[in-house]
Amino acid sequence: MSETIRTLTNRRIVRKYKKAQICDEDLHLILQSGMNAASAKGIQPCTIVVVQNPDTLGRLTAMNAKIKGTDTDPLYGAPTALVVLADMEKSPNAWSDGCLILGNLMNAAAALHLGSCWINRAREEFELPEGKALLREWGLPEHLVGVGHCIVGYGDGPEPAASPRKDNFIKFIR
Ligand SMILES: Cc1cc2nc3c(=O)[nH]c(=O)nc-3n(C[C@H](O)[C@H](O)[C@H](O)COP(=O)(O)O)c2cc1C
Repeated sequence: MSETIRTLTNRRIVRKYKKAQICDEDLHLILQSGMNAASAKGIQPCTIVVVQNPDTLGRLTAMNAKIKGTDTDPLYGAPTALVVLADMEKSPNAWSDGCLILGNLMNAAAALHLGSCWINRAREEFELPEGKALLREWGLPEHLVGVGHCIVGYGDGPEPAASPRKDNFIKFIR
C-alpha cells in the first residue's frame, strides 16, 4: 500500500492533546496541503486563519462551548486551531471548497503523525458579535462564513481505532 493510501485510510480523530506546540515546519506543510485542495473553478474563495495565541484560542473555545451548550472544552486543549472561512460572495461553492480544505488539513496532519480533529460550529461562531469582532481584528470581511476548525497537536494517548465502516457504504453499478 502506498504511504498516501495508508495515511488516508488510517487517519483518525484525536480528542486528547499534549500541551506542546507543533513546529512551524509541520504547520507550513499542513497549510500547504490545505491551500492546494481543489476549489470549484480554481477560485480559492477560502481563508485559513492559524490560531496559536492562547487568548484567541480561549475566545474560540468560549464561543464554541456556548453554542454547544457545554462546560467541557470543545477544542480539547489543542495548541493550534486552523479556522477555515468561506467567502460565499466569491463563489457559490465556497462552503464545499472549505470542507475539502479541512479534509486536506486533517490528512496532512496524520501524514506527519500529528493528531487532528474537525471542530464544528464555526458557522454559528462567526455569526455571533464575538465572532464578528474576531474577523475585524484579523482584518477580514465580516461576511465570511465559518466552515470549521481543524485543531492540530501531538496526540496524548493510544492511537484511536476506526469504527467499522457500514455495510452499504459502497454500491457498484457495473
Ligand atoms: C463535518 C464534521 C464535523 C465534526 N465535528 C466535530 C466536533 O465538533 N467535535 C468532535 O469532537 N469531532 C467532530 N468531528 C469528528 C467526527 O466525530 C469523527 O470524524 C467521527 O467520529 C469518525 O471518526 P474518525 O474520523 O476517526 O473516523 C467532525 C467531523 C466532521 C466531518
